[in-house]
Amino acid sequence: TKRVMIEDRNHIKDEELGEAAGILRSGGLVAFPTETVYGLGGNALDEDAAGKIYAAKGRPSDNPLIAHVSCMEEVAPLVKEIPEAGRKLMEAFWPGPLTMIFPKSDKVPYGTTGGLDTVAIRMPDDPVANRLIALAGVPVAAPSANTSGRPSPTTADHVWQDMNGRIEMIIDGGPVGIGVESTIVDVSSEVPAVLRPGAITMEMLEAVLGDVSVDPAILGPLSADVRPKAPGMKYKHYAPKADLTLVEPEDVDRENGLDEKQLQAMIGKVRELSRGKIEAGCRVGVICTDESRHCYTDGAVRSIGERKSQASVAHNLYALLREFDDLGVDYIFSESFPKDHLGQAIMNRLSKAAGYKIVKV
Ligand code: TXA
Ligand code: MG
Repeated sequence: TKRVMIEDRNHIKDEELGEAAGILRSGGLVAFPTETVYGLGGNALDEDAAGKIYAAKGRPSDNPLIAHVSCMEEVAPLVKEIPEAGRKLMEAFWPGPLTMIFPKSDKVPYGTTGGLDTVAIRMPDDPVANRLIALAGVPVAAPSANTSGRPSPTTADHVWQDMNGRIEMIIDGGPVGIGVESTIVDVSSEVPAVLRPGAITMEMLEAVLGDVSVDPAILGPLSADVRPKAPGMKYKHYAPKADLTLVEPEDVDRENGLDEKQLQAMIGKVRELSRGKIEAGCRVGVICTDESRHCYTDGAVRSIGERKSQASVAHNLYALLREFDDLGVDYIFSESFPKDHLGQAIMNRLSKAAGYKIVKV
């Protein structure tokens, strides 16, 4: 696997991406940075390239891929129609961390959409991603560039750990900005529905659309009779090797967040649970924040970011889960976060990683 370093993200030279674009055009695979997480790219119109993506990730082939475009004009050939809601969201949030589900045109092969009659499309904001897609001249199918079941990659090193030897090239554009995958909104149905929360938040979507529904699959554990609309949400994604438990106060005020009493109760419980496992001879990791770091003494204590900056927490989340995988701890106990704005995406990823093991205080 060849590794190409981008010298200056704000002045990308075509020579730096020319070979990668050629690989994509001829059916090969290239991992590249986006503003959310690193993607594993292949030609979205080439069923064989899609097949290679599934093989490299070890991903079930009924889990559809997102087609990435570099400009608005590239959308029309891929879809049957662009519904009103879709048009509004494109105008408000593209390029950016928003994926939309459209009815697909015949041009998009079922190999890319996992057999569905819809196609997921996103126009990334990252200059490296945008330039690469434009140079390739084809829509680029790109799931997150991790092995299926591992945390999504937020640096080129993460991609290297999972994909070295499995793909032709990795473009290193430095660490990503956001750190959690794009928001997915289905605009192919009557009322637009959020299938996966991300940096385009519920609050931002409501400001543009008014009414938005939320797929039950993103709120909690799936019962046997609820089928998520995004097939990928049914898999236990983002799973760290250790057994992760979140501690969450009851009745958190969505607007104002945790009060001092709830904060102290949460920290106390994380301490108590980790101490219990350490005394039983287990290796324990603790996920805290910069603000609470000084409250912990036992176990491998790591801050996930500043509690007062949701962006910092999202940015560090997956790298921290990978760090715990490398440390080889048996249990992880984590503080939790209010679910407003970016907090919804943060708690969606943490809860899934924990298999919805949440202790209430
Ligand atoms: O931020 C992102 O979206 C990143 C970067 C690389 O752009 N990509 C990403 O792709 O997260 P992936 O494959 O890891 O997640 C795509 C999700 C899956 O849960 C999949 O089931 C859902 O999108 N999806 C794709 N096509 C769909 C469709 N036609 N209908 C419903 N869900 C779809
Ligand atoms: Mg993924």
